[in-house]
Amino acid sequence: EWIPIRLRKYQDFWIPEHSLPGVMAMQQNFEARPDDVFVLSYPKSGTTWLKALAFAIMTRTHYSMADHPLLRSNPHECVLFIPSVFSNGTASKLEAMPSPRILGSHLAYSLLPDSMKGSGGRFLYVCREPKDVFISRWHFNDKMRPDSVEPIPFERAFDLYCDGISPYGSIWEHVREYWEESLRRPEKVLFLKYEEMLEEPVGTAKKLADFVGCPFSPEEENEGVVEEIIRLCSFDSLSKLAGRMMHKLNTVIPLQTTSLYRKGVAGDWRNHMSEVMAGRMDAVTSQKLERSGLTFGISA
Ligand code: PPS
Repeated sequence: EWIPIRLRKYQDFWIPEHSLPGVMAMQQNFEARPDDVFVLSYPKSGTTWLKALAFAIMTRTHYSMADHPLLRSNPHECVLFIPSVFSNGTASKLEAMPSPRILGSHLAYSLLPDSMKGSGGRFLYVCREPKDVFISRWHFNDKMRPDSVEPIPFERAFDLYCDGISPYGSIWEHVREYWEESLRRPEKVLFLKYEEMLEEPVGTAKKLADFVGCPFSPEEENEGVVEEIIRLCSFDSLSKLAGRMMHKLNTVIPLQTTSLYRKGVAGDWRNHMSEVMAGRMDAVTSQKLERSGLTFGISA
């Protein structure tokens, strides 16, 4: 059977084998600064978008819209994944970065180094409806598949995902941990939902800016800066730019910039999953998130 990404169970979560050395190095050596901002997520939940927004919002006084780094490089190059930096053997790069740094990780909360959890650094976490995450992953894996091999049967991929055997482990454990931490420490963790970001991009951008300590001024709001940033980071804009860049990203797996953009909508599971399957996954979601207070309103 062809396996797109080899996984190893590590501290209760399934981690891509190729990322494990970087993850372990991060756990041992990463030193957080009090003004760091971290973009955290379960893969396929809106990471690329949140990286772009956080970067554009936090650096908005440094660049003009006409010559913005996001026009030239991918959000994953503007906001690096910490394990990727460690596995590329250039951890000094992290120390050389000026403050405030913006960095990313897909690690579950319980796997983060104490320095990240204990420092003043802020966490931005984005979650997405689990059925849509599964469909996004399914297509993403398929892009990595050589033409000569058959894909894993959809039903088998579904069962593995429901059992938490997917990159970075069980989505339900992942979201639950960050959700609970956001309730315990709302000043530390901003918990965002992909579907709400789609519905309320202006509200999201303002919330994010307030949270990281650089709120939009009334002048900026009047001048339409918020809308400009949202446009720059939109699916249409980023996917068009990626099409023009067409280079490989410097991540652990060889990844084309274009692979990160597919549809960028909520509810696409309806085009791929039977009602029975959707019902099965919804039942897992209800059971796993029972009494947490967290719901995925949009497509239940
Ligand atoms: S990754 O590999 O974990 O970083 O992927 P991630 O970015 O988390 O998820 C990829 C999905 O996000 C969609 N996407 C966007 N949606 C809205 N706006 C913007 N700007 C945006 N950029 C990426 C992308 O299309 C993937 O979702 P699907 O459902 O597959 O389209």
